[in-house]
Amino acid sequence: MSRSYLEIYENVDIKDDKPYRTAIPIALDSTRPAMSFHTNRIHYEVLHENYVKKWEEKPSDFTWYGAMLHNLWWLNLQPYEKTLRMTGPAEEMIKGMFSNHNAMMEAMNKAAAALHGNGWLLITDKGQLKTIPNHEAENVYDHIVLLIDLWEHALVDHEFQRDRYLPEIIRCINWDVVSERLVR
Ligand SMILES: [Fe+2]
Repeated sequence: MSRSYLEIYENVDIKDDKPYRTAIPIALDSTRPAMSFHTNRIHYEVLHENYVKKWEEKPSDFTWYGAMLHNLWWLNLQPYEKTLRMTGPAEEMIKGMFSNHNAMMEAMNKAAAALHGNGWLLITDKGQLKTIPNHEAENVYDHIVLLIDLWEHALVDHEFQRDRYLPEIIRCINWDVVSERLVR
C-alpha cells in the first residue's frame, strides 16, 4: 500500500507512530484580525490536542491526520501582515499559477466554496490548488507546500464565511516556509 504524503513527510508509519502536536511559531494573539487570540487558543490548545488524546484512546486515520495536518498548518503561519511579501520559489510558483492577487483570491474562494463541509485548502509543489475533505489525507500523495484550515473552528471571527476569512488568513501565510517546502 502506498504511503500518504504526510507519512513520507514526517518519516513515520501511521499504524505505528503516534501523532503529536507541534510547537507553533506564532504568538496566539498575533494573527488578528484573521484569527483572534481566543480562536487560536481553542484551536491549538484544545482542538488540536484533542486529536492527539483521542488517537491515544482509540487510534484512527481521522485523529492521526487531524493532528498531523494541523502541524503543517501552524508551521506555515506568521503574524498578520497587511502586505503580502512573497519571495523566492514561493513567489515564482504563485506567479506561475495566477495572473495577479485578485485572480489568486478568486481561485481560492472558488475552490473553498466547492468543498462541502469542513476541510483544508492546499497548494502542491506542482502548483496545483486542491482541497481535502475533513481530515481525509490518507489518499493524498501530493507534496503539500501551503495548507489552510477551512474548518468552521478557524472561521469563527468571520461568521463562518470562507470568502471573508481567506483574504485575511492569506496575510498570515509565511511564504518563506512555503519556499522551504518547495525546495525540500
Ligand atoms: Fe483546525
